[in-house]
Amino acid sequence: MKTRVCIIGAGPAGLLLGHLLRAEGVECVVIERQTPDYILGRIRAGVLEEITVSLMARLGLDARLRAEGLPHGGFNLADGERLIRIDIADLTGKQVVVYGQTELTRDLMAAREERGLEVVYEAADVALHDVESDAPFVTYTKDGTEHRVDARFVVGCDGFHGPSRKAIPAGVAKEYLREYPFGWLGILADVPPCNHELIYANHERGFALASMRSESRSRYYVDVPLTDRVEEWSDERLWDELAIRLGPEAAAHMTRGPAIEKSIAPLRSYVFAPMRHGSLLLCGDAAHIVPPTGAKGLNLAASDVHYAAEALTGYFRRNDAEAIAAYSDTALARVWKSERFSWSLTRLMHRFPEDGPFERAMQVAELDYIASSRAAQTAIAENYVGLPV
Ligand code: APR
Ligand code: PHB
Repeated sequence: MKTRVCIIGAGPAGLLLGHLLRAEGVECVVIERQTPDYILGRIRAGVLEEITVSLMARLGLDARLRAEGLPHGGFNLADGERLIRIDIADLTGKQVVVYGQTELTRDLMAAREERGLEVVYEAADVALHDVESDAPFVTYTKDGTEHRVDARFVVGCDGFHGPSRKAIPAGVAKEYLREYPFGWLGILADVPPCNHELIYANHERGFALASMRSESRSRYYVDVPLTDRVEEWSDERLWDELAIRLGPEAAAHMTRGPAIEKSIAPLRSYVFAPMRHGSLLLCGDAAHIVPPTGAKGLNLAASDVHYAAEALTGYFRRNDAEAIAAYSDTALARVWKSERFSWSLTRLMHRFPEDGPFERAMQVAELDYIASSRAAQTAIAENYVGLPV
């Protein structure tokens, strides 16, 4: 098969890019290892920045997002006793939308046929070839047959474990990694949220987050040592821990219910640079990971995809290779700022095992400063709502 852009991975990044290219008349195909059902079974974060919402709107695929998404004009930082509200709407004039990443992926998936976006699911042994040349190609096997896709560009949207990043030689790349000494234990339950806005809590027993998917579905997290196993956390134990860490006010409004999903995810910050090598571009988790504090993962993937779509469209429409050459620098400038914000919010809201009284005093001082300063709140709000693209 011959196409202009071969996209690897049909997560939110790959599907969003495929739709944006199709909307501009750029021929492309998406190659994915898993089945659609497997992908829709993954539970991920659920806070959308303006860039993500506006890309869905530009594609005309935002009907359900507008109907079911919950606009949030603020969120809260809990520090033992008090709740510090960050009034995003007042401080930035913008808002975020609470809408599950799984639902956004479902909407992109559902529009494949109508928009003529070709996605090959259950493709095994995906491999990239000749990415340094102007004629790269991708091979895969499906139903026992080997296939080859020739393209002008390959875009790796295949997440942290995919093959794309590995096709860039170690000598030209640099990796930046910070691993955190804890993971997030998450629970999804069909119960009303304890608060109409998100609460990020720093309690002496550890971090907690109260989030939601809808008026009747809640998502909560606590941080746990990496050695904990999910079997050690009965629903009851987890609800008890959430009630303590989120504080009495939230606990009083918390409805308990059986877990629909419960899992532990490690936290890491990771950046791979450059995000382009020859004819290969990387987008989303294939190039970087953020800890979930701040919910930047999907939104960063969306901004990468936005830059990649503009660059690829410019190349095929106007024969303009400049934005392709600049893609890595353009995307990384925003990636690093999101990395910084996710890291600093993680640092502020978690109790690190290595922290002593000084580090704790720094957290208290910073939370005090945030509580008393509109400037400090504005800095948090503009990062939370999403920096400009
Ligand atoms: N061949 C083909 N596809 C692959 C391969 C492979 N060898 N390896 C991985 N993939 C697919 C995965 O199955 C997955 O569907 O690539 C896709 C990557 O999707 P995600 O991991 O969801 O990554 P991305 O699309 O970049 O989404 C950004 O936002 O909230 C964050 O980390 C979260 O997934 C999230 C991300
Ligand atoms: C979620 O709802 O899953 C969620 C919300 C905010 C975060 C992380 C996860 O920062």
